Amino acid sequence: MKQAQVIKPGLIQYVEVEDITSKKLENNEILLKIRTIGVCGSDIHVMHGQHPAVTYPVIQGHEYGAEVVAVGVSVTKVKPGDKATARPQLVCGECSPCKKGRYNVCQHLRVQGFQAPGVAQSHFIVTEDRIVKVDNELPFDKIAMIEPCAVGAHATSQVNLAGKNVLVSGAGTIGNLIAQFAKNRGAKNVLITDVSDYRLDIARQCGIDAVQNVSDPLHEEKINRFFGEEGFQVGFEVAGVQSSLDLLLKNSEKGSEIVIVGVYADNPRVNMYYLGEHELKLIGTLMYLHEDYLEAVKAITSNRILLSPLISKHIPFDNYIEAYHFIEKEKEKSMKVIIDVE
Ligand SMILES: NC(=O)c1ccc[n+]([C@@H]2O[C@H](COP(=O)([O-])OP(=O)(O)OC[C@H]3O[C@@H](n4cnc5c(N)ncnc54)[C@H](O)[C@@H]3O)[C@@H](O)[C@H]2O)c1
Ligand SMILES: [Zn+2]
Ligand SMILES: [Zn+2]
Repeated sequence: MKQAQVIKPGLIQYVEVEDITSKKLENNEILLKIRTIGVCGSDIHVMHGQHPAVTYPVIQGHEYGAEVVAVGVSVTKVKPGDKATARPQLVCGECSPCKKGRYNVCQHLRVQGFQAPGVAQSHFIVTEDRIVKVDNELPFDKIAMIEPCAVGAHATSQVNLAGKNVLVSGAGTIGNLIAQFAKNRGAKNVLITDVSDYRLDIARQCGIDAVQNVSDPLHEEKINRFFGEEGFQVGFEVAGVQSSLDLLLKNSEKGSEIVIVGVYADNPRVNMYYLGEHELKLIGTLMYLHEDYLEAVKAITSNRILLSPLISKHIPFDNYIEAYHFIEKEKEKSMKVIIDVE
């Protein structure tokens, strides 16, 4: 079986590893045939040697679409022939957050594709607790996007959005999906910002109420005009830059909630006096729980979340590195790149 390994930043090598297709499965194990793998910003950091929590070689692949090939004797959630994906979180089950059901922030969290081997190979074995069955009608590229959708499902579950006005700052894949989920969860008006008209146009194609390019010198006035007297009560920071956080802090209504989704290359400064005096709440969010995957599947299969505008390109597995070349070349015009594993 051929495995794609990131040997060091910038270099992917194919290594022949032990075939697992005839391995005897444990009772709770599932053998998957990997069909698609999504590439995301964290993978790009690994590729550039800028991920703080990995050591090389890295086997990538944490967002994927697969077909069930075989199941252990006690498995009931899926059967051979089903389409599926699985959560990539390996957790201890013993620490305090795990015991409270908050295993997404497990003290010993390891994520497949980063601190544990990912799925960049023809077959992969997962345990039933992390499997997520999907409708057989769903194409494999969209199945690979359940993972970023689950990030959106989780981030938007941190606050009550019903009837609220929402500003999402950053219209990359994650911001786009958060904006779509916010609408799904009953938000009144959702506005998304970016510095890229191209990405804002994709947001528009996904049905988001309003978009605003923040490189427009009049952007603050325009945002405030859009929300009018009501203002906005929830912000999602999904760009990971100081100016984006500043915009949310400065323009949200007093008492607002701001969910921090972005990962900051440079630690931002926050005026804590202003924060206290405005009774603003900053809320962290990390990855997802199993129910967020299920929520994402439901939203995708019922077409409440649109994914097609986000898929920029398919690249064959044998040419994995080309995905990164494409992303580098296309920049903002590349959203989700999918590796086709055949
Ligand atoms: N918390 C989590 O669980 C989690 C999970 C996945 C990703 N992330 C993080 O979320 C962020 C978004 O992920 P992504 O894959 O969509 O990344 P991305 O880089 O594709 O998207 C970020 C977007 O922000 C835009 N941007 C830059 N400056 C801006 C500004 N001042 N105002 C508004 N927009 C601005 C960029 O043009 C880009 O479109 C990243 O920081 C990523 O690391 C967090
Ligand atoms: Zn990802
Ligand atoms: Zn734990």
